[in-house]
Amino acid sequence: MKSLKFLNPYLFRYRTRLILGTLFITISNIFAIYPAEVLRKGIDMVQDGIHVYDLFKGLPMENELRSDFFNILLFFGIIVIITALLKGLFMFFMRQTIIVMSRLIEFDLKNDIYKQYQKLDLAFYKKNKTGDLMARISEDVSQVRMYVGPAIMYAIGTITLVLLVTLRMLTINAELTFYVLSPLPILAFTIYYVNSRVIKKSAAVQKQLSTISSWVQESFSGIRVVKAYNREQFNQNKFAEEANLYKDKNVELVKVNALFFPMIILLIGLSTLITIYAGGIKVFSGEITTGTIAEFIMYVNMLTWPVASIGWVTSIVQRAAASQTRINEFLSYEPSVVNHTSAATPIIGDLRFDHVSFVYPDSGIVAINKISFSVKAGQSLAVIGRTGSGKSTLAALISRQYDVTSGQIFVDNMPLHKVNLNSLRSAIGYVPQEVFLFSETISNNIAFGFKPSHIASESDQESIEQAAKDAAIFDSVSQFPEGFNTRVGERGVTLSGGQKQRISIARAIIRKPEILIFDDCLSAVDTATEEEVLSNLRRIMKGRTSVIIAHRISTVKHCDQIIVLDHGSIVEQGSHQDLINKDGIYAELNRKQLLEEAAAQF
Ligand SMILES: Nc1ncnc2c1ncn2[C@@H]1O[C@H](COP(=O)(O)OP(=O)(O)OP(=O)(O)O)[C@@H](O)[C@H]1O
Ligand SMILES: [Mg+2]
Repeated sequence: MKSLKFLNPYLFRYRTRLILGTLFITISNIFAIYPAEVLRKGIDMVQDGIHVYDLFKGLPMENELRSDFFNILLFFGIIVIITALLKGLFMFFMRQTIIVMSRLIEFDLKNDIYKQYQKLDLAFYKKNKTGDLMARISEDVSQVRMYVGPAIMYAIGTITLVLLVTLRMLTINAELTFYVLSPLPILAFTIYYVNSRVIKKSAAVQKQLSTISSWVQESFSGIRVVKAYNREQFNQNKFAEEANLYKDKNVELVKVNALFFPMIILLIGLSTLITIYAGGIKVFSGEITTGTIAEFIMYVNMLTWPVASIGWVTSIVQRAAASQTRINEFLSYEPSVVNHTSAATPIIGDLRFDHVSFVYPDSGIVAINKISFSVKAGQSLAVIGRTGSGKSTLAALISRQYDVTSGQIFVDNMPLHKVNLNSLRSAIGYVPQEVFLFSETISNNIAFGFKPSHIASESDQESIEQAAKDAAIFDSVSQFPEGFNTRVGERGVTLSGGQKQRISIARAIIRKPEILIFDDCLSAVDTATEEEVLSNLRRIMKGRTSVIIAHRISTVKHCDQIIVLDHGSIVEQGSHQDLINKDGIYAELNRKQLLEEAAAQF
């Protein structure tokens, strides 16, 4: 329950609504209980009236007495209708304040969680599944809203009603009040018990349902394999088996649910019975009137649903507390990469690594081991090395997606963590190894690189096309029927790996950054296209610091400086010619690749 304390500031923010809501609930409850008193008066009056009426039977006053009598009853009836209307009106106000408040809190909470998600670093995203992140911002927040909305509303409603009714009953007869209320705690407890069983059972139903649907989904997306391997009958049986389990779990749920209403009716019946019996005795002894029994029976009925809702409210609060604990877990997560300065830092592009090491915190893998090198602004650095040697990690360190474990990175002779994070990232055009395109038009995907709004306008078209030309993707895109307005992804065209890579390159170069990082961005294109892209890139790279990660010598040989990584350490360093002369790993790799190329010619 402690986790729900987190929501208090939110409730405090909307305290006016909460206070008004409480007031409306109380007023609505006052109007709800008033008719019971009117009913008692009515019944008592009828009872007394009949005696009086009998006395005047046959006398001239009979008719007058009768119409007076009916007029008073009519008046009582009108009072009951008016109070019912007023009760309804205030219930409307109560929902307008408290339920609206819960929606406002839900909105704030979702925004706060989203904001936190944006702040969190890559290490966090590696550790937590997307489904989990989504569940906490949607389902868990919904559970929490049930607490700040309906649960609070019903709780306040129940407390005020129980107080008002009990006070009212006590002023009439304390002993009878005790008898009448005695079954209510049993009612509340039973409902709580039944309810928690219902929750457990419905969770089981839900789980089985999701098992079935993911299994069915898979069997249909793999329908070709299923048919090719003649597995229809097997699948049919398996489906029947799972569906049968689902049915059984549902039947169990229905059984528990079926207990719910009879239980309530039984306990109200018990209460009513006690009221009539104990009340009847008191009527005989003249302690109370017959009308009072009717009044008490009305109170019992009035209390039933609110008391029944205690069980329901408790389970909402429990679920909300569990959800809030999950939400708090993410909200309290401190991002390890933080921006230490708000002042913008202009960046020129000098880059220096000084004995930099990096260990992945979750796996303990030493991905970068005491690396030192420096690149002057405007120069190019190539990083080459076997798969898993730490190339991508090195790129990630430059844009501070992770902070170094030891050593230091300098940009323009400033320690990286002193540079404004936004300035740093704005100055970098990064082409990641794993291309990601949004389900958007090609235009917008490229414009993402330089438009904060991510939507391309007419005036951007020229720069978008230029970037596409430089990335050697212009011709392919122009051939699509819708050209640059072609949508990518699920509801649009499926691009080939090489096409995606080049769009990703266009996205990076369109921002004209001070530092360009290409992480293995030409792996999926043929050597001819590679040559075309590279010759364009050389023009674009002029005056910009660039880091090119690759597996092919042909990609990197024109760079000013080449480092060869192995197991996170630099094993060779120098220009292409230096390294060839050195006749080490690099020269060996070069020979192999030249041979492969020659072989490919035949
Ligand atoms: N997010 C991560 N968490 C833990 N370990 C990681 C993570 N990413 C990479 N590693 C490990 O760090 C080492 C270096 O990986 P990195 O991705 O930098 O290699 P790479 O040189 O880019 O390889 P490739 O050429 O295949 O892209 C590998 O041993 C890898 O298993
Ligand atoms: Mg890599």
